[in-house]
This record gives sequence, C-alpha cells and structure tokens, in this order.
Amino acid sequence: MRRVLVTAALPYANSDLHLGHAFSTYIPADIFSRYCRLKGWDVVFVCGSDEHGTPVSVAAREAGRTPLEHVEYFRRRQMEDLARLGISFDNYYRTHSEENRELTEEFLIKLRENGYIYKKKVTLFYCENDKIYLPDRMIKGKCPYCGAEDQYSDSCEVCGRTIEPGMILEPYCILCKTPPSTRSEEHFIFRLSAFSDILLEWLKSKSNEDFSRDVVNYVVQWIKSGLQDWDITREDYWGFKLPYKDAKDNQYVYVWFDAPIGYIASTVNWSKRTGRDWRDYWMGDCLITHFIGKDIVYHHLLFWPAMLMGVGGYTLPGKYVVNGYLTLEGRKMSKSRKWLVPLKRVLEKFPADYIRFYLASKASNSVSDNDFSWLEFMSKVNGDLVDNIGNFAHRVLTFISKWFNRRVPAPGDMEEQDNDFASSFMKMVEEVEKEYEKCDFSQVIRRIIEAFKKANSYFTAKAPWEAVKKGGKTREGEAATPLYICINFLYSAATCLYPIIPSSMERLFEMMNTSASWDSAKRFSINAGHVINEPKPLFRKILEDEVKAEMKALEEGMVA
Ligand code: 2FM
Ligand code: ZN
Repeated sequence: MRRVLVTAALPYANSDLHLGHAFSTYIPADIFSRYCRLKGWDVVFVCGSDEHGTPVSVAAREAGRTPLEHVEYFRRRQMEDLARLGISFDNYYRTHSEENRELTEEFLIKLRENGYIYKKKVTLFYCENDKIYLPDRMIKGKCPYCGAEDQYSDSCEVCGRTIEPGMILEPYCILCKTPPSTRSEEHFIFRLSAFSDILLEWLKSKSNEDFSRDVVNYVVQWIKSGLQDWDITREDYWGFKLPYKDAKDNQYVYVWFDAPIGYIASTVNWSKRTGRDWRDYWMGDCLITHFIGKDIVYHHLLFWPAMLMGVGGYTLPGKYVVNGYLTLEGRKMSKSRKWLVPLKRVLEKFPADYIRFYLASKASNSVSDNDFSWLEFMSKVNGDLVDNIGNFAHRVLTFISKWFNRRVPAPGDMEEQDNDFASSFMKMVEEVEKEYEKCDFSQVIRRIIEAFKKANSYFTAKAPWEAVKKGGKTREGEAATPLYICINFLYSAATCLYPIIPSSMERLFEMMNTSASWDSAKRFSINAGHVINEPKPLFRKILEDEVKAEMKALEEGMVA
C-alpha cells in the first residue's frame, strides 16, 4: 500500500483567510488527500498555524494584543473557515508548540554538529528614530537582483528571490521612512551553499509528474546563479530562542526555519492523539507531498530539503504541487486596498462545494495566475453543477423512482449506442485518475463535465420515457438498459467528483444508497435490483442579483 503524507502551507495566524489561500493551497491539498483516501492509501494530511515572525508581532502590536493572544484569535477563526470549506485535515496544529520547539532545537543542534551552521558578523539595520533593530519586514528598498523598487528586504515579489539580510539596496524604515543606520552583530548562518550540488542532483532525479518542470527550471536557475548562505538569527523577535550557549539573550530563530519543521511537529502531535508512529511518514517509505503557493518555492525547494539533508535520517519531499496567484476581477488582491474576499463572507453566502468546484476548475498545478470573477462563478455553478450534473442525476434518479419503484432495472440487450457510452465512461475514470495523480484538477473537471454532457445526450437520445409509455416488454428492455447504464455512470462520475465537491456527492451517494470507492468506479458496480433512496435536488441556481450584490460590496470596499 502506498503511504502518503500531505501538507498544506501553514497560514500565518495574523489575518483571516481569503479566496487566494483557498485556491493556491487548501482546496488543492484537500482534493488530493481525499483522492488518496478513496484509493485506499495510507494518507495523513497535516497543517497548522504559522505563529512566529515579524508580520505576526507587528500585526499584534497594531491590534493591541500580545503575539500569543493575536495568534490564538486568528488561529481559531482560520480553523473555523477551513472546516467550513470542508478541508479534511487529519491534524491541524501550530508552530508555537512544545513539539515544534523540541524539533527545532534538535535540527539546530544536529546541523551545527554536522558543520552546517557557522557564526558570522552581519550588519543589521537599526532605526535611530524608532530605537529598534529593524527586522526584514520593517525595511523596504530596491531588490539587489532585479532592481524592483519598494520590496520588503527579505524577498522580492517581482523576481521571486529571497534576499539575505543587509543585501537590500537603498533601505528605509517602514515606520518613519528614513534610511536606517547599521550595527554589527554575530549571527548563526545555515550553510545552504554546501548543498548546491546535491540539491541539483536531487531535483534532476525527479519525474515531471512529481516536480513540475516549470518550478524545477527556475529553482535550478537559482542554484546555478549561486546560493547564498542563510541567516537564521533575528534580534528582539517573536519566535523560539536559539538553543546555543554562545547565542545572545535577545537572539531568536527566524520564522522560516521553524515553520516547515511545523509540518513534522503536527505529525508528531497526530501520533500522540492516534498512537500511530510519525516516523513511518517522515523517516520511512512515504510520498511526502507539499502543497504551496508559488511565492514560497524558494523556502520549500531549497531551504527545506537542505535542512532535512543536513540533519540526516529524514525522508525528502517526494512531490510538490505549486499553484499560482489568484486575481480578483482582473486585479491583484490587496488587503490595504480592500480588494479581496474573505472565506468567512463567501461561505456565509454560498455552499462550500460551489467555491471548491469553481476554484478547482482553475487549479492546474501550474504557476500561471488565474482570475476569480463573480459572473464566471455564477455561470460555472449554474451551467456545470446545476444544468449538467444536477440535471442528469435528477433525470436518472427520478426515473428509476417513478417507473421502476426505486429498484435499478436489469439491462436488456445492449445496442451499439449503449456500448459506446458505457466504454466512454469507463475511459473517463482512467483519464481522471491520471489527472488526479498530476494534481491537475482543472483537467479532472473538464473530463467529468464532458462525460456528463455525453451522458445527458445519451439519455435524451434513448428517450426511455417513450418506452415506458408503451409499457410491457418494451419498458423492461428499451427503458431498462439505458437506466441501468446511466445509474452506473452516475456512480462512477460521483466517485470522480467526490474529492472536489464532497458534501454534495455524499448527499448523492445517500440518494443512490451507496458510498464512494475508487475500485468500484472502474466497473459497473450498481447491480440490477439495488434499491435507491428518494431523490432530492442536489444544487441550487445562483441568481444574478446575488453576485451583483457581491460585486457592489467589493467595489465599495465593504468586503475585506
Ligand atoms: O507564506 C506563508 O504564508 C507561510 N506562513 C507559509 C509557511 S509554510 C511552512 F513552511 F510552514
Ligand atoms: Zn524608523
């Protein structure tokens, strides 16, 4: 049996989650986890809140809370939204935890023993005006790699590179906009450059399916242009203390060091709850699969594997799924410009499955960006879910209810048209399976929608209502065969759709009086004589007024 550990990037617990988070990470990771479970694999899906670092402590200060109060507040709200979105974590934990502290210390000590941590004097920015060391997110300036202006001093949003402390050009303090002075301190540095060759080899050994070429190509470029060692020390900071005797009292671990270790910490915490061994997943034969947005590729494909290699004994990541950004009505999302849609709001207005379906239809495991548009959302839901899928389910189930007393009829002779349709839907399951493995959910949906269109045409062409009007033998033969084939198609297609719209499909399985299984979806598994339950409507139409109201609220800045 295949063993899979799925992680979704840990959200910073300093704001509410919005559609962008759902699109780039949580919906794709959940779909894949549910697919793995349907296949009967041993899968553990972990996540948790990312609680340290300057963005968190700055936001806490602004809100008049301590960092811990602040992360507790947002962690709760994020967990509510993720649950409501149907994200089926096996464990949702946190980075500010004992498990994570222990593991982080262990990593730091082992890496130093193995020669991968060294001390170096670094130049720090100090604001004489505000009397503080300025951590990376409190300084902006010009990117040393591509020259883009107004970039945070730790990473460039334009070229995607991570910027080492002190490297930013023309720096200024974000509080008072003046250029900071500099001071010198001894820092602990992770020798990332020592891993260049082995990272290259590792990346090149991976298949296109598990490591998309897009992503690998630009990571390889980064390595070839020379990796900078990584400063993992911060002064006067919200985070874990450094476990070294020669560290100063005000020196802490940089958030990006303990954040990915949080994936392991969440699994350790899961072990405690379930009695299962986390080492089977992190040290054994296991496909470790990371779901991330494209802005954190550097951290997950360079820092993180190098940390694991440097400590030794850990299984390296085996698969990455990277999605691009989501724009909103053609514009970049922005909290300050109130141009985003929080999950809280959208989940109050529409069923989670509608959001999952629409966003999944754009999630293709590719770094290209996608757009959320309210009108398109409406037309996808109404066209694909209501008119195509919902309509077909309704036609088949009500027909069996009404004319066959809820009992699936035994098929008569199969004609060419019946055979053609039956074999086309078996092919659909195989194709969808391949797309699921690639985590290209836009293709999964495309193929299922095509199959439902075919199914609706087949049903119309067979016109079983003509046969039942005639009654007698005709009813048994001419109406029974298409209905038998159609309910089997419905079962297979519902299984294929289950990872994407689980709660709707659970209701459909309940109406069909059965449950999802990937193996059963590959054959005719609903037998003649099987009794179904009473059919009910699956989806509702979205009214134009509803989406117009959302667009208006967004334009007026009432949403974010
Ligand atoms: O970019 C972010 O939102 C980070 N909080 C993701 C961390 S992922 C992992 F490494 F913890
Ligand atoms: Zn200042």
